Amino acid sequence: MPEHNFTSVCKTTDVPPNGVKNVNLNGLEIAIFNTKDGFIAHSGVCKHNAFKLELCEIAGDMITCPLHGWKYRISTGKGIKPSWTCLDTYPLKVIEGNILIKPLADESNKDTFDTSAYDW
Ligand code: FES
Repeated sequence: MPEHNFTSVCKTTDVPPNGVKNVNLNGLEIAIFNTKDGFIAHSGVCKHNAFKLELCEIAGDMITCPLHGWKYRISTGKGIKPSWTCLDTYPLKVIEGNILIKPLADESNKDTFDTSAYDW
């Protein structure tokens, strides 16, 4: 995809330090994290059952969904509990205080959730 497919979704000041804010990009829910290493964008809902990540608890590099305890590493999007799941990660740029996101080339499986195979 060409660079012009990046879209401004919010200001850097909209995302608190060590915090997360969900944005909606053309129907796509995306979570913007403001980490000590910079901003990072992942899919905005828990892979278990679509709970918004901006309502989850952050502790260091880990975010925990309060509904059933699924955990993800913020820096990578990889699942901690369960380890086989993973958040999608989106290309992100910061330009003049604006956060820009580019949708992934294949969004065909973005809203699929497997609620039958999780562990506790
Ligand atoms: S919806 Fe997140 S753990 Fe169930």
